[in-house]
Amino acid sequence: MATEIGRIGVIGAGQMGSGIAHVCALAGLDVSFNDIDQNRIAAAIERIDHNIKRQVGKGAVTDADRAAALARIHPVSSYADLADCDLVIEAATEDEQIKRKIFSELCPTLKPETMVATNTSSISITRLAASTDRPERFIGIHFMNPVPVMQLVELIRGIATEDETFDSARALIDRLGKTVAVSEDFPAFMVNRILLPMINEAIYTLYEGVGSVDAIDTAMKLGANHPMGPLQLADFIGLDTCLSIMQVLYEGLADSKYRPCPLLVKYVEAGWLGRKTQRGFYDYRGAEPVPTR
Ligand SMILES: NC(=O)c1ccc[n+]([C@@H]2O[C@H](COP(=O)([O-])OP(=O)(O)OC[C@H]3O[C@@H](n4cnc5c(N)ncnc54)[C@H](O)[C@@H]3O)[C@@H](O)[C@H]2O)c1
Repeated sequence: MATEIGRIGVIGAGQMGSGIAHVCALAGLDVSFNDIDQNRIAAAIERIDHNIKRQVGKGAVTDADRAAALARIHPVSSYADLADCDLVIEAATEDEQIKRKIFSELCPTLKPETMVATNTSSISITRLAASTDRPERFIGIHFMNPVPVMQLVELIRGIATEDETFDSARALIDRLGKTVAVSEDFPAFMVNRILLPMINEAIYTLYEGVGSVDAIDTAMKLGANHPMGPLQLADFIGLDTCLSIMQVLYEGLADSKYRPCPLLVKYVEAGWLGRKTQRGFYDYRGAEPVPTR
């Protein structure tokens, strides 16, 4: 039997956390919104307001819906403030140590029946569940970026996930008007298992001098009918997230075909993480993105 979710906690106010808060608040859920950095929460709420205004402009929602949704989002500075949530979704940085630390500090503050989910793109759900006190009430709910636009959500059970947790998560996704694809708990699940090696190969294509940034993206947009080029998409996802996913694939599947391209490593080491830092395979600081190679 599914548990009805009324109040949801979101940890991490980056691109994904803000998208999750956005769709949950518009669907009528109360959202307690946390980040290690309070400025990120304020910036995320501004971004959510801006994005819902765009939906109002398109006639998809009313201005009253926008105001009501924003009023449902409550910034919280400590995990103790998440105590009354029915579900907490972790959407912090793609780093296993960071996520494990969050769960070990979060769980003691929660009601025993509260479900915990992670939005990880690649890390084992069973392993993350084992760092909590409630593996049976733990699940992977993997939203796609940008959350308000993308239809798919991957649902991933850990070895101990109970049916009730799975059914409750599925009911939540239905309520958000999105479509579920169920994945087994393998590194990077389905979408990123297929997508990230393609992006990594595009970066190798650039690294080996086969083509420029512009040529590679044009080739895949016009030659494979992709809506975005792979390097543009890498910048959109975040190059740190892309590298973490490739490392999880490489280590988790122990196959050299997943070796992260050294050029991807170099961009991340430079702090050129894509759109979120204004520089990656493109430079976003001017009016138009300019290729950096
Ligand atoms: N970017 C994508 O396209 C995408 C798509 C699907 C899933 N994801 C996953 O979603 C998660 C978040 O990715 P993102 O793109 O939003 O990253 P991001 O870099 O935009 O945001 C991460 C946020 O986590 C916060 N954070 C870091 N440590 C924290 C802590 N201890 N407590 C609370 N907050 C903390 C950071 O301050 C930051 O605001 C990752 O697990 C990522 O793999 C990303």
